[in-house]
Amino acid sequence: MADKTNMQLLDGKTTADAIRRELAEAVKLRKKEGKKIPHLAAIIVGYDGGSITYVSAKVKACNQIGFESTLIQYDESVSEEVLMNKIKTLNEDKSIDGFIVQLPLPQHIDELKVTLAIDPAKDVDGFHPVNLGKMVLNLPGFLPATPAGILELLKRNNIDTQGKNCVVVGRSNIVGTPLSILLGRNSDPGNCTVTLAHSKTNNLKEICRNADILISAVGKPEFITGDMVKEGAVVIDVGTTRVTDASRQRGWKLRGDVKFDEVSEKCSFITPVPGGVGPMTIASLMINTLKALELRGK
Ligand code: GUN
Repeated sequence: MADKTNMQLLDGKTTADAIRRELAEAVKLRKKEGKKIPHLAAIIVGYDGGSITYVSAKVKACNQIGFESTLIQYDESVSEEVLMNKIKTLNEDKSIDGFIVQLPLPQHIDELKVTLAIDPAKDVDGFHPVNLGKMVLNLPGFLPATPAGILELLKRNNIDTQGKNCVVVGRSNIVGTPLSILLGRNSDPGNCTVTLAHSKTNNLKEICRNADILISAVGKPEFITGDMVKEGAVVIDVGTTRVTDASRQRGWKLRGDVKFDEVSEKCSFITPVPGGVGPMTIASLMINTLKALELRGK
């Protein structure tokens, strides 16, 4: 059995801090050259605690690196029409380089319709079918922020992915499915032999045990247990579920998909929750926002 001390944390916070410093330098340089400063807008609908935390972190990251940011908040009851009109305004507003609509949206709003309304050139979340199609064809576009953040985390921590068996658990449109495509591409990171597992997968434990790189994005606390992990595997935990914790003033804590104590005994690298994938998602969004501005030739 691998010695627990051999396990290394894949520290998303430290990696994201390095990216933020690079972006802050890029902003300083743009200022010096009299160029436009990147400007990200974020729309949030309703008062879901998780969404508020994520969007606040995105705005905070903008402030830290010197990007401009605009936060647009709507009550849960906002009409689809009002939201669609705001998206049209943001599409046309030359001061805004990129914007996101935080998901999930309330039931009465059609998420696909909203996503389709965003100008693909400002779609810094990479959720528009045009950007997802470009990703599949390996054409330049915006990669979805969480998958892109995971690739960057692997790259900056020198994790070798070439020829490895990678199992992605969870097939969401914004994480599992795009990640399975990105890791299978002929690139670095990439060239994995990817299995996309999901709720209907037979023999999930055996399939996971075959993974050199195991990525879980199902949103179920402690779903991945020690017996599902191969000795020496690289484990990436995308889960961020709020669970009750009476010992904390705020009453909750974040829990990943991975049973950390068990799995960390066996793996070579593991992302913590919090401080793993989350900060990398935000860093990717910032990278995409600067890219959106640069692609407009500004
Ligand atoms: N909800 C959960 N993750 C994300 C994300 O990366 N972007 C948006 N817009 N909504 C989300």
